[in-house]
Amino acid sequence: PAFDLVVRNARVATASDSFVSDIGIRDGVIQQLGHGLAAGAREIDAAGRVVTPGGVDAHCHLDQPMAPPVRMADDFDSGTRAAACGGTTTVIPFAAQVKGQSLRAAVDDYHARAQGRAHIDHAFHLIVSDPTPEVLGRELPELIREGYTSFKIYMTYDDLKLDDGQILDVLEVARRHDAMAMIHAENADCIAWLTRRLEAAGRTAPRFHAHARPMLVEREATHRAISLAELIDVPILIVHVSGREAVEQIRWARAQGLKVFAETCPQYLFLTAEDLGIDDSYKGARCVCSPPPRDKQNQQVIWDGLSDGLFTVFSSDHAPFRYDGTEGKKPNGEEVAFQHIPNGIPGIETRLPLLYSEGVLGGRITLQRFVELTATNPAKAYGLHPRKGTIAIGSDADLVIWDEGERTVRNAALHHDVDYTPYEGMALRAWPGVTIAGGEVLWDGQAFHPRRGQGRYLRRGRPSLLPARPTSPRPPAA
Ligand code: URP
Ligand code: ZN
Ligand code: ZN
Ligand code: ZN
Repeated sequence: PAFDLVVRNARVATASDSFVSDIGIRDGVIQQLGHGLAAGAREIDAAGRVVTPGGVDAHCHLDQPMAPPVRMADDFDSGTRAAACGGTTTVIPFAAQVKGQSLRAAVDDYHARAQGRAHIDHAFHLIVSDPTPEVLGRELPELIREGYTSFKIYMTYDDLKLDDGQILDVLEVARRHDAMAMIHAENADCIAWLTRRLEAAGRTAPRFHAHARPMLVEREATHRAISLAELIDVPILIVHVSGREAVEQIRWARAQGLKVFAETCPQYLFLTAEDLGIDDSYKGARCVCSPPPRDKQNQQVIWDGLSDGLFTVFSSDHAPFRYDGTEGKKPNGEEVAFQHIPNGIPGIETRLPLLYSEGVLGGRITLQRFVELTATNPAKAYGLHPRKGTIAIGSDADLVIWDEGERTVRNAALHHDVDYTPYEGMALRAWPGVTIAGGEVLWDGQAFHPRRGQGRYLRRGRPSLLPARPTSPRPPAA
């Protein structure tokens, strides 16, 4: 046969177009688009269903070592299995530098964690927590040249946060070497001060997590991050934007002509601070993440930003911790004060179905915008486009065939190793019916077909959302 696989009668959706076509796949790559394609060794009739590029989840945490006894529930096996069953075919989790550790050692460690386990293609963002002269002068530039073309920096968390001077130092490296800097923007000192006050007042239930991180701490840090980036003259991407106040800062920056990109996540569309508890019940620990979910009005602000172009990327921020047991939300089995609850919620499998159901089928965003936010833009922002993030001749054969129809989110039907989903019981209007990665069916709507260890590491290129480098010498400044 001419092809390994032919998907027939697909309503192909890209970030810009929608057209009916067959898709001819050979050697894991899309070889031909058109009608009446020659036979494939395997054929799938899409029967007019929507086919989108496989999702690129550019913000997820897999197998990141935590302070004992806490441990992430998903490694590269279970995490990429859940991703594939939810329509995601590429993940970019983090290789986090521990203070005192070299960046190289961090990268080697994460490669070892993914080796032989990942079912889908993957790359790593760096997390720079210790910008020593060696890191700034040699390691980071070297790693960027090797294809680690993005890194995350934190303005909060004691073991990760950088001060403003350090942020300027790393942003300067991003500018000089063409990397995308992702920033977690929350004011650490405000959070610490509020936490001490809450604790002194005996307000330690999970719901007080949201009281310790009001929107103004995100707004202030977002503005500061924007200012630091303006000083260096470098694009940045603000991750996990939660609501109106940070959105306003980003709109302001854009109006100044600054290249400030932004990411948001499902929790800011579908959860509110009430999910952290309306009383002092510990159950709310399941939805503790940072920044915390806000309220209904802020959900609408996030929807508006998704539809009008404010947001560049829609990621899961999957940070998997079990609720029961000793390693997750209850360290050593205890109901701890909110500031000791591991931050983060699972969502790698539900990211695309939630946005497709409530965004596309709910009439809030177009199908093209859905593809742009979940696949094309993340691939562009992090140097994977056009190999990833689109349906085109020469692109990897990573595809999702969508099944429309009523379905209820049940954790029992998900494929992560977390013992709950924050979205339990939600009614959906669509779910991936087939997920194809590298030309192979990983999810057929009923069963997962493992490809353990066959997910490839992706050496990334220059982020294509960065401004073009001048090819000729710049004109002299006026
Ligand atoms: O609470 C969250 N989001 N935890 C994951 C780590 C991060 O800051 O993204
Ligand atoms: Zn056809
Ligand atoms: Zn973060
Ligand atoms: Zn995160």
